[in-house]
Amino acid sequence: MTSLLTVIILFTIFHYTQSTAYDITTSTSNWQSILTNLKAGDIATIHYGIYTTSGSGYFQLTLNGLLTEPIIIQGALNELRPVIQCTQAGANSQNIINIQGSNFMIKGIAFTKGSRGVRLGPAVTSNAIFDNIYIYNTTGTGFSANDVGNEYSNITLRNSEITNTAALSATTGECIYLGCENDVCRIRDSIIDHNYCHDTLGSVGGSRAGFQVKTGSFNIKILNNVCYETVGPCIVVYDDYNRGRNLIDGNIAINAGTDDLGIQCTSGATVTNNIVINANLAGIGVLQNSIYPAVGYIRNITISHNTVYMSQADACLRLNGLSNNNILISNNVLYCENQKSIKSSANLAGYSILNNAVNGIVDAAGIQSGGIFIVDNTIFLNINSYNFYPAVKSALIGTGITLSDQLVVYDFNGQLRSTVTPTVGAYEYSTATNPGCQITNNFKCGSATAAISD
Ligand SMILES: *[C@@H]1O[C@H](CO)[C@@H](O)[C@H](O)[C@H]1NC(C)=O
Ligand SMILES: *[C@@H]1O[C@H](CO)[C@@H](O)[C@H](O)[C@H]1NC(C)=O
Ligand SMILES: *[C@@H]1O[C@H](CO)[C@@H](O)[C@H](O)[C@H]1NC(C)=O
Repeated sequence: MTSLLTVIILFTIFHYTQSTAYDITTSTSNWQSILTNLKAGDIATIHYGIYTTSGSGYFQLTLNGLLTEPIIIQGALNELRPVIQCTQAGANSQNIINIQGSNFMIKGIAFTKGSRGVRLGPAVTSNAIFDNIYIYNTTGTGFSANDVGNEYSNITLRNSEITNTAALSATTGECIYLGCENDVCRIRDSIIDHNYCHDTLGSVGGSRAGFQVKTGSFNIKILNNVCYETVGPCIVVYDDYNRGRNLIDGNIAINAGTDDLGIQCTSGATVTNNIVINANLAGIGVLQNSIYPAVGYIRNITISHNTVYMSQADACLRLNGLSNNNILISNNVLYCENQKSIKSSANLAGYSILNNAVNGIVDAAGIQSGGIFIVDNTIFLNINSYNFYPAVKSALIGTGITLSDQLVVYDFNGQLRSTVTPTVGAYEYSTATNPGCQITNNFKCGSATAAISD
């Protein structure tokens, strides 16, 4: 006891600020005011239970930690996640929680009901980590950072699950909405990784995406996420305004979008190691949508080492309004059977289109020799179980090309790629069986342990 006291006193003396640890249970009636008054270095641990926010408004939290002394709000270890909910739900309800500030972490907490789940704002927010968050049965968007005038930075959202975002009323119900239209707010230098967005089928209007990053946002890494049954694209990023490419790597989209593309981008995007299965429109598409007005043309896009399997309509790869400005399309598997493998409105003569394996009609003029090669269903280990790892002797093995300035170092499983003759598609061939884990409809493994490829 004495030595513990000494430690606490020394800690206090050397840090000059007093950090407090709070333990919150469902009988802590002032839990909201504890959270509202947290100071740099404080840790609030919330035990399992249902916590209903008071009043008819949203719960506003301002968390101003310091880089060396962040504020932490966390669920208790080895317990179910505590659930924070709103009294209200459905049309005209309020968000569950608005959080603003910097240098904080929210970990192991569930949020339900309300309008939006977690809204970053209204003030600008930076250096924040959201880890192991579960947002479910909201009336609208699960997680948003889109208040006009803000430049959000260094936000991490990881290991989290978001589902049923239009449960209580028909809304656009995105899982994640970052940035604003026309660059009136934006997010930069942030990471969205290992999250699972699923079953947002009640959503209507808007683009209803899984993970959406609006125009002017930059240096966003969208890594190793999973979408299942989202109406809009699993991932949509628009134009980086030449500020710094956004990276979309190692994600899986199954039946997403059910009414849209699987992965969509406009400019300033690198799309690598993704697996897109049964999107409605194109599996991957470049569309001239919300482009940087000062430039006005599509540019700076890499689409490499993706595996697209089937689309309900349109094509595996859709290129709309493309112009030849730093575009690379290489080493992809575009396997679409009765749909088109590639569809482009522009003539692709002179483009860097290299070593793509295709199945399905190519509806695009001008592709150079070596840009595509035709494959059949013997390339994959087992189509029926979504095992798109290359079969032994698959035509994908060793038929890729490496460009020294655009190396894709790892594959979908996080295995190193050959730097000389890589395998075409999301997987690098190394052994006869898939060294990663099996994709299923509620897939939430495999890529979760994959190394980050940059
Ligand atoms: C980003 O935020 C994290 C977590 O708060 C922090 O550890 C890191 O130092 C921040 N990075 C920068 C560049 O400020
Ligand atoms: C979420 O909403 C769905 C209906 O949309 C309902 O079936 C389910 O039980 C709800 N889940 C929870 C945990 O309340
Ligand atoms: C995008 O491409 C243009 C050339 O079309 C180049 O000038 C610009 O620097 C590129 N931007 C980025 C961020 O790579």
